[in-house]
Amino acid sequence: MDRKRRISIIGSTGSIGTQALEVIEKLQDKFEIIALAGGNNIELLKQQAEKFKPKYIYAQKHIKIDGIRTLESLDEIAQNQENDIILVACSGKIGLRPTLKAIENGIDIALANKETLVMAGDIVMKKAKENGVKIIPVDSEHCAIHQCIKDISQVEKLIITASGGPFLHKSIEEMKTATVKEALAHPRWNMGRKITVDSATLMNKGLEIIEAHHLFGMDYDDIDVVVHPQSIVHSAIEYKDGSVIAQLGLPSMHIPIQYAISYPERFEGIKSKSFSFSEIARLDFEKPDFEKFPTVKLAYKAGKIGGSATACLNAANEEAVFAFLDGKINLYQIYEITKEIFDNHKVIQNPTIDEIFEVDEKIRLQTKELIEKITQK
Ligand SMILES: NC(=O)c1ccc[n+]([C@@H]2O[C@H](COP(=O)([O-])OP(=O)(O)OC[C@H]3O[C@@H](n4cnc5c(N)ncnc54)[C@H](OP(=O)(O)O)[C@@H]3O)[C@@H](O)[C@H]2O)c1
Repeated sequence: MDRKRRISIIGSTGSIGTQALEVIEKLQDKFEIIALAGGNNIELLKQQAEKFKPKYIYAQKHIKIDGIRTLESLDEIAQNQENDIILVACSGKIGLRPTLKAIENGIDIALANKETLVMAGDIVMKKAKENGVKIIPVDSEHCAIHQCIKDISQVEKLIITASGGPFLHKSIEEMKTATVKEALAHPRWNMGRKITVDSATLMNKGLEIIEAHHLFGMDYDDIDVVVHPQSIVHSAIEYKDGSVIAQLGLPSMHIPIQYAISYPERFEGIKSKSFSFSEIARLDFEKPDFEKFPTVKLAYKAGKIGGSATACLNAANEEAVFAFLDGKINLYQIYEITKEIFDNHKVIQNPTIDEIFEVDEKIRLQTKELIEKITQK
């Protein structure tokens, strides 16, 4: 592209959003920011707006900055044809509506918000295809696979790596007594609170399996998970002839964020230091323990059932994570609660987008009620 790429960021005040702005700061001659959007962190959003001078801003709370137009909704960003690409980096279900709107308007998406595909992957990917829109993954595993794949029809299986999180070699008992601080102490990645807790229970890997199924159209039986504590191999694919291609790099989200917003070009950007095999010295791999981390099995099950099952999984898990962060339940109960809600869900096959939002709302209510019941005992 011989002019600057015009980008908006939904969730600019979060972990992915702030790192995206660090990438863009290094590549000011490549990007022009159209809009920045955040939730409640008005102070940070103001600082970002003053520094990066977008045309528009949006926040969940009231915000006003001289010379910048305040928007009323995320939809206004998503339907603005001034955008070449929108980075969807908000957490939770908030990402789904603006992503769909942007797709309807033919705007490419750099997608960090995995919940969008977990809730409505079939609808989102179908619409993207119909509208000729690219969905470029930001998640480091999917970004790795995106970089490895030349021809998906030749691929035998996807191999998604997992760091294993802070409880990799701890017992279930230790997970039950873990404090919020311990669960948030991820050994490799510094991320938002919700995804960090998901990484501790390994539900994050479960959500990523569903995300990979939708992004690359692979059957669940052809998506494997391997634990790789160093987080250097970000994921791999195995071709039909037995060749395995992996993408490696230091564990930094700057690289996949930059790849997603620059695709198909590559720029020097932030790359912190050169990659050295001899400094890394060793790479370990082990089988995931699905008995200790049953969330992954539950996610496979939800994915294979399809329909509204994954939206149910997502909503129940998210509410249980919030309850854990509020100190209401222990870490292991996130799985137990999610499973109980999931087992009682009457799946709708081929749901409409309205049905998905209805399921989401109903499941959140049911999960909150179940948590209330458990904590009152
Ligand atoms: N962090 C990572 O390394 C990583 C890696 C892979 C994938 N992801 C995925 O990327 C997404 C974001 O993760 P994160 O770690 O960056 O989360 P995070 O740090 O919690 O940031 C979430 C962002 O969403 C914004 N937000 C919340 N409600 C909003 C609303 N109603 N309207 C507009 N913005 C709203 C927040 O704004 P305020 O802070 O202003 O309230 C914040 O900017 C998640 O889906 C996660 O699974 C993250």
